[in-house]
Amino acid sequence: MTRPPMPNPAGPEWPADAVLYQIYPQSYADSDGDGIGDFAGLTARLEYLAWLGVSAVWLTPCFDSPFRDAGYDVRDYLTTAARYGSNEELAKLTDAARRYGIRVVLDLVAGHTSDQHPWFLASADDPADHRYIWSDRAAEGFVASPGRRAGWYRPNFFDCQPALNYGYARQDPAEPWRQPIDAEGPRANRAALRETMAQWLAAGVSGFRVDMASSLVKDDPGFTETGRLWREMRGWLAERHPDAILLAEWGDPAVSVPMGFHGDFFLHFGGPGDGAALRSLWHNGTGTVDETWPPAACYFDADGAGSMETFVAAWQRTVDALADAPGSGHAILPTANHDLSRLACGPRTGEQLAPAFAFQLTWPSVPAVYYGDEIGMRYVPGLPDKEGSVLGPQYNRAGSRTPMQWDSGPNAGFSTAPADRLYLPVDPAADRPDVATQRADTGSLLHVVRRLIALRRSHPALGTHGSLEVLHTGYPLVYLRGGRFLVVVNPRREPARFALEQRHVPRTALIAHGVHTDPDGTVHAEGFSYAVFEL
Ligand code: GLC
Repeated sequence: MTRPPMPNPAGPEWPADAVLYQIYPQSYADSDGDGIGDFAGLTARLEYLAWLGVSAVWLTPCFDSPFRDAGYDVRDYLTTAARYGSNEELAKLTDAARRYGIRVVLDLVAGHTSDQHPWFLASADDPADHRYIWSDRAAEGFVASPGRRAGWYRPNFFDCQPALNYGYARQDPAEPWRQPIDAEGPRANRAALRETMAQWLAAGVSGFRVDMASSLVKDDPGFTETGRLWREMRGWLAERHPDAILLAEWGDPAVSVPMGFHGDFFLHFGGPGDGAALRSLWHNGTGTVDETWPPAACYFDADGAGSMETFVAAWQRTVDALADAPGSGHAILPTANHDLSRLACGPRTGEQLAPAFAFQLTWPSVPAVYYGDEIGMRYVPGLPDKEGSVLGPQYNRAGSRTPMQWDSGPNAGFSTAPADRLYLPVDPAADRPDVATQRADTGSLLHVVRRLIALRRSHPALGTHGSLEVLHTGYPLVYLRGGRFLVVVNPRREPARFALEQRHVPRTALIAHGVHTDPDGTVHAEGFSYAVFEL
């Protein structure tokens, strides 16, 4: 397939070395005691993030919203939600973060607005408005107009999230709502997207994670027109804001990076085998389960029934796809996110987590740590629906969105509000982990994660720059980075062994827990062990 050349193929260099950290602002740190996290609370925690070693934080949407989808239903792209603080406070957060060497990335909900957005309220009253997709009949998937306009609109996710009109790649006289991508509505929406980005970039943010990035142009086989749109945005950024990045929520970096993105997340959905790659690592069938996913054992599981083969094959496919535009964008490997179960979910807790981080932080992808995963915060089952968290009978995102656990005090140090006023309840477990306790204990998961981040940052060959040679995809997982570092990870309960070739027998352990090698090259990995060696 021939593709148009990538604008600014090299892009800014900082994402290659980034350690991303995702924050759900509702639940991170509450400074004013209203039970909901805010910018000032987060600002006060920047010292912690710098100590941990993260280099960029991504905030899920913090804009004015009726919060029927946790802020993914934006009512005003240019104004922050009052509950987090003002635009000025967000700018202050960005400034303070930069002093700590941390960049702030916002969420760009490009494909839809809230049904309370003034653009939609106007569109629902005015048949001449084309910012949204309107049909004159009850077409499949369309929702009846709430306004004076007769007709039906096309939602993008929940019904309260009408799709912005970026046009259709294919026209059809029988479906007159399919407008070309250069019609007036789509042009106005693309201009608005740039206006939104320009405002926040001027306020000091370093880029955007783009929500449902593949959803903009409808009926777009091969994402030809969607790709044209994002490459145009990247070209604009490269010219006006060359340090800024666009990260896609797409789930398939092999496809999205050539479309113009500086990075994309491996996710439970999207990508080869419809997200099977990430599920084959982390998903143990609890918390956030879509019934359409075929059941499969995951690799990071105490019973050890999984294999790394699915993931490694998806990785190789991604590397091959990105080879013709080197450095233009990266695959991002998240521990979890606000839509997926946490690393500590169902049967996977405690000592099983460090091996997962040892893998994530020495793999050539860009790592993204979901807030609280670094201390092993657990997915909390059985919560009621909160701001649209429930997506199915076995799919409740609230369990991954509970308040950050800062200390062993009331509300885990998240907020001074009465417990029943918190955004979501704190994990009720008596042994819930917290930052203060783990910071004081150099043997804690938090310290392991911090050491692994420091190791990655001090040895570029452990990051996106070094080559990768996978030596074993069973238990233990064994791979070489940059021809120089040997990584061994055994996430199962049972010990595991592997025979190294003589040339791979390591000399020094940079970090090791339960792994040793004999001079004959036998690697002995105890249950739940990991190590990074230097050859
Ligand atoms: C993305 C977000 C998710 C949201 C949806 C609709 O998948 O990550 O939280 O509900 O888009 O905006």
